[in-house]
Amino acid sequence: MRQILTPNEPWTQDKVELHMHLEGCLEPDLWNKFQRKYPSLGIAPVTTVTYPFTDLSSFLAWRYQGDRLLNEEEDFFDLTWRYIERALDNHIVYAEIFFDPQAHTARGISLDTVMSGIIRALRQAEQRYGWTARLIPNILRDHPLNTAEEDLAHLESYGKWIIGVGLDSRELPYPPRLFRDLFDQARRKGWHIVAHAGEEGPASYIWEALDELGAERIDHGIHAIDDPILVARLKTDRIPLTVCPWSNKRLGVMTDLRTYHQLFQEGVVLTVNSDDPAYFSAYLNANFELISPYFSTEALQQLIDNSFAASFRTDF
Ligand code: ADE
Ligand code: ZN
Repeated sequence: MRQILTPNEPWTQDKVELHMHLEGCLEPDLWNKFQRKYPSLGIAPVTTVTYPFTDLSSFLAWRYQGDRLLNEEEDFFDLTWRYIERALDNHIVYAEIFFDPQAHTARGISLDTVMSGIIRALRQAEQRYGWTARLIPNILRDHPLNTAEEDLAHLESYGKWIIGVGLDSRELPYPPRLFRDLFDQARRKGWHIVAHAGEEGPASYIWEALDELGAERIDHGIHAIDDPILVARLKTDRIPLTVCPWSNKRLGVMTDLRTYHQLFQEGVVLTVNSDDPAYFSAYLNANFELISPYFSTEALQQLIDNSFAASFRTDF
């Protein structure tokens, strides 16, 4: 049974999160712990949660620097456990969690090291709290295609834990069509398809994610607002957009927060998410709070219901 805790803050009830990058959960205390653990990396400690980034590229430079601090199984365990604790605080009952295999394998970290740390934490959460999650590896747009292919082949051995494949990193100039073969392979493995598109890139990237990759959800997708025919397509086919308000605000990709409500009113299925919550200092409830002035209580309730319906679990 889903639980409603605070009726005047409807987001403080059970929810699902569908767009959260595990590596984006590296809070400053974990950054500093690993920075001390691996002094030879020469990575400076962070002293504030407010990083000086202004756009997607400058943000990703920080994110990928932080990723280098994750090296051993227990580092991935600690990181995953941190998200699980935050998820419980934020009334998240289930998550489909992104991670970036190539960010680790490109540094010589074995995918088995990454996966065993993550899965150990997920198993512990299931045993202790009945809390469940599944994983969605993202293909990094700006890495060589063959490394994505190798990593995805390796991930097949992880069975039920992998529920889909996504596409992320710097969007421009990497249109989704470049990744068509990889996504065809992923579909043949029985995985669901999602893709970041229309975050900093144009609406045409969203069309490509749908028509070339067969994306079942679009991550961000906010530039759909520039193309009324695309908005109609998203509405008709009930393709969810997993929007991330604090991320969009911090990265300057959405200047007017009312755009979410505009998309909602047009009938597009939206879900609210945190993207890289440690870097934006905002987990899921804070993202709901940010947009709450623009949405009625009933509309906020709809966004929460959408999070269950848009998940790849079939038993909600
Ligand atoms: N990887 C982590 N966060 C991302 C974002 N907002 N866009 C693209 N790639 C990402
Ligand atoms: Zn993202």
